[in-house]
Amino acid sequence: MRDGVKKFTSHWMTSPLQTAETSCMKCHNASKEDLIKRVKTIHDNTFKFQRIAGSTVSKAHLTTQKAMQAGANDAHLATARLRLRETQWYWDYAAAENGVGFHNPDQIAPPSAFPSTSPIRR
Ligand code: HEC
Repeated sequence: MRDGVKKFTSHWMTSPLQTAETSCMKCHNASKEDLIKRVKTIHDNTFKFQRIAGSTVSKAHLTTQKAMQAGANDAHLATARLRLRETQWYWDYAAAENGVGFHNPDQIAPPSAFPSTSPIRR
């Protein structure tokens, strides 16, 4: 908030949805209710995506372990390990960013990653 040349910020640690009027509406001109509804839909979809992706990454770690136990060497596994590391980092980033995708859902859960019948697309 500004008063003349002075700018005041809040130190109240809360979800910005609690202060949507001052946190969001200076840039957005949809209704506050519609904006918050959109955020909740994005949160639900992103969270589903995050759980599916997390479980898939975890299975990929176990599959790599099984391949090692079956005798695969470092050369055999180099590409798989690289892809797994990239995927794990991306998952960690998505899970840690704490906005649950609300401001850029396509960055966190690109629609192209899912079949058109997936509930994630809706
Ligand atoms: C500094 C300006 C600014 C502020 C403040 C801001 N936004 Fe945004 N928001 C944007 C811009 C720019 C976009 C991207 C628009 C686009 O790409 O069409 C966006 C996109 C969004 C989207 C749409 C994402 C999608 O692709 O469906 C939602 C939902 C959203 N903002 C909610 C909020 C909420 C809730 C707040 C307050 C907590 C907020 N925004 C604060 C500028 C802002």
